[in-house]
Amino acid sequence: MIPPEIIEEINSTAKIEEVIDEFVNLKRRGVNMIGLCPFHNEKTPSFTVSPSKNLFKCFGCGKGGNAVHFLMEHEQFSYPEALKFLAERYNIKIPEIERTDEQKQADQEKQSLLIINEYAQKFFTKNLFESDEGRTIGLSYFKHRGLLESTIETFKLGYSPKSRDQFTQEAIKNGYNLDKLKSLGLVSQSGYDFYRERVIFPFHNISGKVIGFGGRILKDQAKAPKYLNSPESSIYNKRKTLYGLYQAKSEIRKLNQCILVEGYTDVLSLYQNGIKNVVASSGTSLTIEQVKLIKRFSDNTVVLYDGDQAGQNAALRGLDIFLENNLNVKVVVLPDNSDPDSYIQKVGTESFKQYISDNAKDFILKLAKNIQDTLANDPVNKSIQIKELVKSLSKISDQLKRSLYIKECANILELAENSLIKEVNRGVRNEIGKKTKEINRARPAFKENVEYFNKTIPEDHSQKDEGIQLDSERYQERDIIRALLQHGQKECTHHENISGLEYLRLLIGESFLEFKNKTYLKIISKAFEDHDNGISFSANRFIDHSDKHISSLAVDLLSDPNSYANWEEKGVQLQTQRPIDENHEKDIFQSVMRFFMTYFKEQNLIWKEKISECTDDATRIILLTAYKKFKDEMREHASKLNTVII
Ligand code: CTP
Ligand code: MN
Repeated sequence: MIPPEIIEEINSTAKIEEVIDEFVNLKRRGVNMIGLCPFHNEKTPSFTVSPSKNLFKCFGCGKGGNAVHFLMEHEQFSYPEALKFLAERYNIKIPEIERTDEQKQADQEKQSLLIINEYAQKFFTKNLFESDEGRTIGLSYFKHRGLLESTIETFKLGYSPKSRDQFTQEAIKNGYNLDKLKSLGLVSQSGYDFYRERVIFPFHNISGKVIGFGGRILKDQAKAPKYLNSPESSIYNKRKTLYGLYQAKSEIRKLNQCILVEGYTDVLSLYQNGIKNVVASSGTSLTIEQVKLIKRFSDNTVVLYDGDQAGQNAALRGLDIFLENNLNVKVVVLPDNSDPDSYIQKVGTESFKQYISDNAKDFILKLAKNIQDTLANDPVNKSIQIKELVKSLSKISDQLKRSLYIKECANILELAENSLIKEVNRGVRNEIGKKTKEINRARPAFKENVEYFNKTIPEDHSQKDEGIQLDSERYQERDIIRALLQHGQKECTHHENISGLEYLRLLIGESFLEFKNKTYLKIISKAFEDHDNGISFSANRFIDHSDKHISSLAVDLLSDPNSYANWEEKGVQLQTQRPIDENHEKDIFQSVMRFFMTYFKEQNLIWKEKISECTDDATRIILLTAYKKFKDEMREHASKLNTVII
């Protein structure tokens, strides 16, 4: 932890205009400075920096704060990272109190590797521009591929000479450690240059440090690989790296869209042609880590594929990772087997952009269409493919989005919507089960749960004095809350391993919104909302609630498992007298069914009353028709439970 007085010193020393000037082109306007906001897309500057207040504020998008806030937002730094960045820049020493020797050592190790990589990158770049060999071979290669010097500089491209050990010798002469050079993959195990006669593409981390390299071969040598990439090290993890992200990130945020391509050269080419929100997954198939990285900057991704149909479906399926992480993903297949680089060079930026906006197809719908187009007359294979599609559909965590997709896909595939819903629901339950387990594993500490709950639910004072009014006491609602509190965390093994909460939710659908008692409604809504946000259910959060009515209710319900046992006196028909713990799934099911039954019964009475009170025949007919509809609904309810979209 950084001591408060140091934080104070950092905040007062860091000059906001100096910090921001590195990222935004600022012009003086009176006492302030203004520029184009890096956080949203704008043509006239509304991003204002006030040196006297030491603050920034954008009057377009509303973002504002001090230098630390700016760095956290712009560089996606954590709070301590932002402070450390500023401390380094302004030469403020942060006393290291809570770090172990191992941590310090690991940090130093990483630091020294980054320094070596920076040295290597400078060596390669210098070679590219300043040596005869670099200029005639490397630079002319890049130029031949249409790259401008400005692009080469932005991406810090380079060239590694033919010589067996020029780099190794120079690095050693400059005092760099041979073992470290080897561990970074810059020097081979036998002590020679790893990259020889290749053009070099450095990989940057999100804050612009060089963490690795890719070296492209120049001649067609059948035996040598086209690219040689750095091995994994404590600073380079290819699963967590996206080529070009450092250069693209602010544009991705501004346009709220990320374009994903396959090759390094595709990134360079698009960037140079003004499409700067572009990154490459670098040859590997896309990883969760990379998708999460994208998500830090935007929820929208467009994936550009080279034109060949063969690997397309398989590649598309790889995109499930986007759906699981709630990103919107579109795919564009480029025409005539061209890749993004060759296509943009052929048609120019405007037509390229046009092609993308005309052809960006939603990935799910595209899959559905592919299936229908190729397999309409082949039911066996069509159903196999649909099962795969269903897998993708069940990865969509947003319920509304999922139901819209199901509708569209059913349409495209000429299927009854219900049959698709059933299939997807099965998959969703599996997904929910998997996720619940994951979340449970990563469950935050109990105390944090309590704090979180107290922080996020504002106290409801309106009910505080009256408590839970008896006339708004709803036994069936209360019993659902009981079931929720008692069983929410349990697993429902008969229902494909979903949790009690998920099972309850599956049964009740949106009908909990009909709850009349505000406290019960508040508890169940909060439990569902938390679940949607990936926070696992815990009855303890309700016990520790600062609202004492919620807290004592939770204690009551949890400590008296048979709290509804004497209900029959109150006119509630129970269908079981068995101790409820014996089968919590049945218990949940019955509590929901009782709620529905009572709900329908009440509604039924209301209808009957309305009808009997009605004197006008025409209105009566209308009422009767509506009533019939209601009764049908009541009857069908049980069967409908099976096909609701969960
Ligand atoms: N790749 C790799 N190692 C290889 C081949 C490919 O790491 N032996 C990765 C690189 O990230 C490369 C990407 O896969 O950028 C796409 O490959 P390809 O299309 O062959 O490369 P380009 O970068 O497009 O190269 P070029 O246009 O120069 O042929
Ligand atoms: Mn290419």
